[in-house]
Amino acid sequence: MGMLDGKVALVTGSARGIGQAIAKKLAGEGADIALCDLKAEWLAETAAIVEAAGRKVKCLEADVSNAAAVDTVVSGAIEALGKVDILVNNAGITKDTLMIRMSEQDWDSVISVNLKGTFLFTKAVARPMMKQRTGCIVNIASIIGLIGNAGQCNYAASKAGVIALTKSAAKELASRNVRVNAVAPGFIQTRMTDGLPEDVRKRMLDAIPMGRFGTPEDVANVVLFLTSDASSYMTGQVLTVCGGMVTA
Ligand SMILES: NC(=O)c1ccc[n+]([C@@H]2O[C@H](COP(=O)([O-])OP(=O)(O)OC[C@H]3O[C@@H](n4cnc5c(N)ncnc54)[C@H](O)[C@@H]3O)[C@@H](O)[C@H]2O)c1
Repeated sequence: MGMLDGKVALVTGSARGIGQAIAKKLAGEGADIALCDLKAEWLAETAAIVEAAGRKVKCLEADVSNAAAVDTVVSGAIEALGKVDILVNNAGITKDTLMIRMSEQDWDSVISVNLKGTFLFTKAVARPMMKQRTGCIVNIASIIGLIGNAGQCNYAASKAGVIALTKSAAKELASRNVRVNAVAPGFIQTRMTDGLPEDVRKRMLDAIPMGRFGTPEDVANVVLFLTSDASSYMTGQVLTVCGGMVTA
C-alpha cells in the first residue's frame, strides 16, 4: 500500500529537476499526477516516469503567472483525473544580479513566476479543496527566502513572500481541513550546481555542515511527508532541507 493511494496530485514545473523528482515520488506512493510546465511536450519524460509507476498522468501547459492559464490547468486536471487532493507549487526561476544592476523586468519576472504563480495556483485549488473538505498544498520556497543572498534580492523576496503566503493561506484554510506548508531547500544538486566552477562548488560545500549538496529526492521525500497523513496535524510550517545550513 502506498502512502498516497487514491490521491491526485498536481505538480507545477515538473518537466525536470526537483519537480520531476516530486512527481516520481508521489506517483511511487500511489498518486495519479497532473503535470504542468511552460510547454506540454517538455513533460514527456516525467509522464513516462509516472506511467512506469502504474499511475495515471495528465500533461498540462501553462505559464504559472497567467491567471487564466492557471484556472484552465486546474479544471483540466479535475476533468482528467477527477479531483485535486494535493498541489505542489514548484515552478520557479532565478534572474540573479546585484540589486544596483537589477532591471525592473528581472524583478517583476521573478516575483511573477515564483510568488504570483504560487498565489494563483493556491487560489485556484482552494475552492474545490474546501468543498471536498480535504486538501494539501506544499509550496517550494528556498533557504534564500529565510536568510537572503547577495545577487538574489528578487529571488529572496519572492521566496520570503511564498513563506508568508503559506502561513496566511494555512490560517484561512485550516478550518476546512486544507493544509498548507512550505519546503525550503538549500543547495540541491541540479544541472545548475553541476556546472559550477570547482572553487565555487568547494566554497558552497564548505558552508554545508553535512558536507554534500542535497538531491532532488531529498526534497521530494519531505514533500511526500507533508502531502501524506504522516503530517496530518501540521499546517503553516516551513521545513528546511539544507544539510544543516540554516538551523533557526
Ligand atoms: N536547485 C536548487 O538548488 C534549489 C534550491 C532552493 C529552491 N529551489 C526551488 O525549487 C524549485 C525547482 O527548482 P529546480 O532547481 O528544479 O529548477 P529547474 O529550473 O530545473 O526547474 C524548474 C521548472 O519550472 C518550469 N518553469 C519555469 N518557469 C515556469 C513558468 N512560468 N510556468 C510554468 N513552469 C515554469 C521550468 O520549465 C522547469 O521545468 C524552484 O521553485 C526553485 O526556486 C531550488
